[in-house]
Amino acid sequence: MVPLADCGLSRTPRAIAIVSTADRPDLVHVTALWRWEAFYRRSGVPFAQILEAATRTAASAEMIPRTVVLLVDGKPVGTASLTEHDLQERRDLTPWLAGMFVEPQARGRGYATRLIGAVEQLARVASIKTLWLYTDTAERIYANAGWWTVEIVQHNGKPFALMRRDLQKS
Ligand SMILES: CC(C)(COP(=O)(O)OP(=O)(O)OC[C@H]1O[C@@H](n2cnc3c(N)ncnc32)[C@H](O)[C@@H]1OP(=O)(O)O)[C@@H](O)C(=O)NCCC(=O)NCCS
Repeated sequence: MVPLADCGLSRTPRAIAIVSTADRPDLVHVTALWRWEAFYRRSGVPFAQILEAATRTAASAEMIPRTVVLLVDGKPVGTASLTEHDLQERRDLTPWLAGMFVEPQARGRGYATRLIGAVEQLARVASIKTLWLYTDTAERIYANAGWWTVEIVQHNGKPFALMRRDLQKS
């Protein structure tokens, strides 16, 4: 017999927490690995380069860059970052929500939406009024979270939605 907890029918609430790699440097490696596999591996970027950037972010004493990690019952399942620059073609815009990733088996439970909220809150604390991102996979999730598509930008020969979020105090 499959225990309830293993077939997704358990009613036990899951403990969800969002932490920063600045406070949990032990999570740097997993976030770098997710990011490399999702966004960089195919274009030949070495993992060491992504790991080095993630390590630098965790060691930074500044509000930007920051990487957050969503934990479910203590296990890391997703990540997102607040970063100064993300899109080479638009270095006039800053700062950015970047590197959003949720593990495949944990998708569709609102975790990306929570990570968006966490990055937005970091930005508010840093008195940032406007955040930017670009995406070709998750425009609807961001739109549902209050982001607006301002234009379509070309990057590596592909169209991406350039989105902005105006932050109010809360
Ligand atoms: C894009 C990505 C981060 C989304 O993660 P996710 O955790 O599945 O996202 P969410 O659960 O927050 O939202 C997914 C859907 O679940 C819905 N949802 C929100 N809360 C929910 C909940 N409590 N229960 C079930 N579904 C929920 C959302 O409305 C959304 O639906 P829609 O897109 O059909 O409107 C994930 O698919 C991923 O890592 N993809 C690969 C990397 C990538 O493309 N990153 C984005 C770069 S910009």
